Amino acid sequence: MRNRFVATVAIAAVAALGLAACGSSNETPEAGAPNTSLATTAGGAGGEVGVFTWWAAGSEKAGLDALEKLFKEKYPNDTFVNLAVAGGAGSNAKAKLASDLQNNQPPDSFQGHAGAELADYIDNDQIVPVNDVITALGGESVFPKNLLDRLTVDGNIYSVPSNIHRANVVWANTAVLEKAGVTAVPKDIKAWMADMDKVKASGVATPLSVAGSWTQLQLFETVLISDLGPEKYSGLFDGSTKWDSAEVKAAAADYKKLLTYANTASDGDDWPVATDMVIEGKAAYNVMGDWAVAEFAAKGKKEQTDYQYFAVPGQDGVFDFLADSFTLPKGAKNPGGTKDWLMLIGSAEGQKAFNLAKGSIPARTDVPPTDFPPYQQSAMEAFKSNTIVSSIAHGAAVSLAWNADMTTAISKFYTTKDDATLVTDLAAAAAKYVG
Ligand code: GAL
Repeated sequence: MRNRFVATVAIAAVAALGLAACGSSNETPEAGAPNTSLATTAGGAGGEVGVFTWWAAGSEKAGLDALEKLFKEKYPNDTFVNLAVAGGAGSNAKAKLASDLQNNQPPDSFQGHAGAELADYIDNDQIVPVNDVITALGGESVFPKNLLDRLTVDGNIYSVPSNIHRANVVWANTAVLEKAGVTAVPKDIKAWMADMDKVKASGVATPLSVAGSWTQLQLFETVLISDLGPEKYSGLFDGSTKWDSAEVKAAAADYKKLLTYANTASDGDDWPVATDMVIEGKAAYNVMGDWAVAEFAAKGKKEQTDYQYFAVPGQDGVFDFLADSFTLPKGAKNPGGTKDWLMLIGSAEGQKAFNLAKGSIPARTDVPPTDFPPYQQSAMEAFKSNTIVSSIAHGAAVSLAWNADMTTAISKFYTTKDDATLVTDLAAAAAKYVG
């Protein structure tokens, strides 16, 4: 597979294109062509702006609500239309979005992930470049280059990032660990399972909580990172690490054993079900992206006293990355309104409001860390200094189709617990996508 997300252009060159290259407000678009002019109208372009996400409930909705509130203040001419479809990680939303795009009924903007996931929409000619918005927002002077690289294909930037999330975090219940006599962060997956034995012995039957398939895929990806190390893990996506290697087989075996410590999940269980088990002391640990911190906050829980967090054992200094980013779909009915939305989510003010509520960190580098609580301050520091790897479950490392094949394999494994077949299935899936 061609790695489309290795930077294909110096961002400076994109910046040089600037607003001028993308048309000015006075230009009339060709007949039949969408008006993607990006000049700002005070108060907004007017009309409805339909925004498609999967932030439909709980702390995720709180993040979207914060953006909606600010959008209404900044762009009073525009009418925000919330098109959210419930289901973490887009587990339901992505199918609805695919059919809307297929039927030429795009929303004015939709949530996607920086990295491989964008390639699907670009290959299908479903989204258009937003170089001019990125430039107007400050380009490389305000967005990290390694993030812009993941949004750039063949010299064009295709979405505006709202945030950066970290996927490889263990959230733990302080009282449960104290009761079990667990006092230190384990050094690797095996040491972690030894701690889970202590938790079990203290009377908590399911030390680890999981929810439906995508949360299992996310858990599995973190086991891969620990057992392979960041370099070999990254090699899984360009063919330099084999999916049927001894390391992947060992990771599958570790994953199988980890699940023996977990609750029985239904396929449709969404992530708050698992995170709430930790909040309620029914489990000691949950591996979840840092949207979980917003759930702890929403339930009035205090860091350290009630809960703790650490990188999944064996990956200190590794940041499992994903970023939500918003698009301008081809054929969007109100591209001027889309531009208002993109300018809002990419602004320092928008990023502060959203990320404070969402648990993520700003994609921009000019939002002061001191405006954020300790967890997010630590994540900002980690993003700057850690080795960055791309999340499988959240669109950064693999395309939508590859993700779907892996989810099928993980879901099948959840029933069969046959780790040899899991490896065979994952290798067969990879063979379809790594050329
Ligand atoms: C991710 C998304 C996050 C969060 C999470 C759980 O895919 O990037 O912002 O929404 O799913 O739903």
